[in-house]
Amino acid sequence: MPMKTAIGLATVIAAALVSAFAANSDPLPPDSTYRPLPTQPFSTVKENDEAQKPSVMERQRALLEQRYDLADRPVAGVMMSGGRKAVQQGVRVKLPQGVTWDSLAGKEPNEVRDKDLLPKGFMPLPHVKQATGGQVFPDDQIRKIAHDEQRDLRRFDIDFDLPGHLTPEFPPPIFLTTHPELGDVSRGDVLTIRNFYEYLNGIITPVQMEGLRLLLTPFPQEEFNQTEDRKVAQPSLGVTCLDCHANFHTNAAFHLTPDIRPQAERFRLDTTSLRGMYNQQIHGSKRSLRSIEDFTQFEQHTAYFNGDHVSAARKGMHLPDRANQVAMMAQMQNIIDFPPAPKLDPSGRLDPKKATEQELRGEQVFMGKGRCAECHIPATSFTDNNMHDLKLERFYKVRQTINDMVAIPDGPIKTFTLRGIKDSPPYLHDGRLLTLADTVEFFNLVLGTKLNQQDKDALVAYLLTL
Ligand code: HEC
Ligand code: HEC
Repeated sequence: MPMKTAIGLATVIAAALVSAFAANSDPLPPDSTYRPLPTQPFSTVKENDEAQKPSVMERQRALLEQRYDLADRPVAGVMMSGGRKAVQQGVRVKLPQGVTWDSLAGKEPNEVRDKDLLPKGFMPLPHVKQATGGQVFPDDQIRKIAHDEQRDLRRFDIDFDLPGHLTPEFPPPIFLTTHPELGDVSRGDVLTIRNFYEYLNGIITPVQMEGLRLLLTPFPQEEFNQTEDRKVAQPSLGVTCLDCHANFHTNAAFHLTPDIRPQAERFRLDTTSLRGMYNQQIHGSKRSLRSIEDFTQFEQHTAYFNGDHVSAARKGMHLPDRANQVAMMAQMQNIIDFPPAPKLDPSGRLDPKKATEQELRGEQVFMGKGRCAECHIPATSFTDNNMHDLKLERFYKVRQTINDMVAIPDGPIKTFTLRGIKDSPPYLHDGRLLTLADTVEFFNLVLGTKLNQQDKDALVAYLLTL
């Protein structure tokens, strides 16, 4: 059987299995604002969820296979900032039959939409189980926390979906604005409640230390708590901030945006890095919160509970004290720096004595015909601190259903920083793009810049220097 048919068939079977099992699960009406309480005992829900799990995971695997080349193909000699993981190369989004990147970029948006030519990998990426949603942690994080803290971050209904070589290095390095001379202060380990004091004693202030303790303290969360609708086998103390923002970076843990209803239209959110937030004026892809303090409070207060304050109250939300706890948590986050970029000068431009010819050409494309610098401004951490609507829906028919997710337009999204960007795959707010080469093809289409192959390669080489 040809590969494509096999995948297609697997998807159909998986989808059929999912809907067959769904009949036994609790109903989750896709169009309501509040989530209903379970009508079945925890043990029954767990049993049904576990029975569904293989087909749910198979359906997601088939979707990823259909969209992307998932191979482990590193760029020769280019590592992430800690030197522990290779950066992946090449465009991974698959093209539809008979289309090339150049022919696609040459078409009008209407034509791409009407002939269904937009590569599927450019479309919003669904959560593994859209109807349930919630936080999903990668295996490395689950194992580390089980080992250090005997706390279980494994869900019984689903697993993390992306292959390990396509996520950030683990553990990622930690750089402090207050101690550039120390370099990475992580000691090659993941900060946990067990080791943070030993590792950072004498380096950070008492206020920062208390902030860090709170960032590493588990608090109840929608799927990790004591109630009958939890998705962890044993009642749980909850999750910590750095369970997703591992070492203040990201381990690619994901959940669904708290900001949208109904459930089917909520988009997936890939964890953002907390590096360099001191220079960013808006926070969150959609919320545009204006301070780290606001975001810190919002994460525990409602984001942990899908933005549902009613559910939060029932499960035991932790409301950190604004004047004390939140301020200290924010102070700690505000001293986390980007990784060093030795080829950049103090104004964020390449130093011609250090950069290669290709990198310099890439910078020219970035500033000029690629139009990147119009939003990613070098002097301000490669963001304009604005949200932009890229209007991708010009290229596809909206309200297509992808594995239970209804694709609606993304609308305005924060211009993310590009400093240290090689360290944070996958890309875009939902993690739909796997490599920097994918992002170059994406923006070339969205902006209509018609870059040639040499420009694109140079742009990728340049992005790797940031
Ligand atoms: C699911 C794992 C997860 C946990 C746990 C988590 N976050 Fe986040 N965090 C995210 C995601 C995903 C985003 C991106 C949100 C968005 O784009 O709207 C984010 C964004 C942020 C931002 C804004 C970044 C920016 O500049 O746009 C801050 C600040 C932040 N988190 C702090 C925290 C704090 C403090 C905690 C603990 C109270 C925490 N996070 C717990 C996943 C997590
Ligand atoms: C109109 C403003 C605008 C322009 C021009 C622009 N970007 Fe962006 N960029 C954004 C926004 C907004 C996002 C977030 C989009 C999302 O997450 O859906 C983003 C995200 C990215 C990301 C992913 C960041 C992350 O953390 O996931 C990369 C990489 C990127 N842009 C590179 C480029 C390159 C390269 C160019 C030029 C070819 C470019 N951008 C041009 C606004 C812009």
